[in-house]
Amino acid sequence: MTAAPAAGAHASLRDVTRIYPPRAGRPALHALGPVSLDLARGEFFAVVGPSGCGKSTLLDVMAGLVAPSAGTVTFEGKPVYAQVPDGIGVVFQEDASFPWLTVYDNIAFGLRQEGRTANEVRASTEFAIDFMGLKEFASAYPAQLSGGMRQRVCIARTLVLKPRLILLDEPFGALDQQTRLLMGDELLRLWRETGATILLITHAIDEAAMLADRVGIMSARPGTFMDVVSTDWPRERDSTIVSDPAFGLLTSRIWTLLRAESLRSMGHK
Ligand SMILES: Nc1ncnc2c1ncn2[C@@H]1O[C@H](COP(=O)(O)OP(=O)(O)OP(=O)(O)O)[C@@H](O)[C@H]1O
Ligand SMILES: [Mg+2]
Repeated sequence: MTAAPAAGAHASLRDVTRIYPPRAGRPALHALGPVSLDLARGEFFAVVGPSGCGKSTLLDVMAGLVAPSAGTVTFEGKPVYAQVPDGIGVVFQEDASFPWLTVYDNIAFGLRQEGRTANEVRASTEFAIDFMGLKEFASAYPAQLSGGMRQRVCIARTLVLKPRLILLDEPFGALDQQTRLLMGDELLRLWRETGATILLITHAIDEAAMLADRVGIMSARPGTFMDVVSTDWPRERDSTIVSDPAFGLLTSRIWTLLRAESLRSMGHK
C-alpha cells in the first residue's frame, strides 16, 4: 500500500526506487530509494548527497526520463510516466547546448519544436536572452562562450518554455566559486519572477544553503533522504546572506550530516 501524495503538492515522489537492470556483464544496480518527496508549489528545494548516491537518477525519475522500478511520481496531480510532461523543464549536469547553433537558435529551438509562430518565437527568445544577460552574444556559437555563459544558454533554453517546475542537475558544477554565487543570484531572481518550483541538485553545500527554502541531504547509494533542513530565508534574498551568521550554522549542520555519509560511501568508516 503506498500513501498518496500530500494534498496540494506540486510534484511528488512516493516510495520511489530505481534499480538499473543488469547489462553487459554488470549486475543490477540499486541506485535510488525507496524515497519520498513532496515539493510545494513555488518552493526552492536543493538536494545534496555523496557522489554516486543517485541524485541524477532522482532528477531523471522526477522528470519522467527514467521510469521508477517501484513507487509513483506525480506532477500537478497526474502520474508522470515515460515522457517529460508539459510544464517541466530540465537543465542537465553536462552542457547540453547544440554546438552547431548560435545562442539565439539554441534558445529558440524548443519554441520552434513546439510550432510557435515566428512572432512568438522572436518575442520569447529575445526576452530570455535579455533576462540571462546574453544580448551581446546572441549570434555567437557555444564554443565562443565562457563556461558560465554556456550554462546561461542552457538555462535560457529551458526558461523560454516557461516551465512550472524546473529541475537543475548541478548546473554550476564546472564554474568557479564567484561565478557560481552570481549565477545563484540569477537563479533566485528567475525563481522569484517566474513563481516556478525549483529542484536543484548540487554538490556545493554553500550553494544549497544559500539558494533553497529546504535542503534534502541524501544518504550514500541507494540514496534516500537522511534529513531535510529548512533554511527559513526570506523570499527576497541573494548571495550576501553568505555573511549572515545563520548561514554558517546552516552549512555546518548540513556538512556534519553529509561528512559521515560521504566517508561511508568512499569505503571509510
Ligand atoms: N544508465 C545507467 N545504467 C546503470 N547504472 C547507472 C546508470 N545511471 C547511473 N547509474 C548508476 O547509478 C548510481 C547513481 O548514479 P547517479 O548518476 O544518479 O548519481 P549522482 O548522485 O548523480 O552522482 P554524481 O554526484 O557523481 O553526479 C551510480 O552508481 C551509477 O553508476
Ligand atoms: Mg549526478
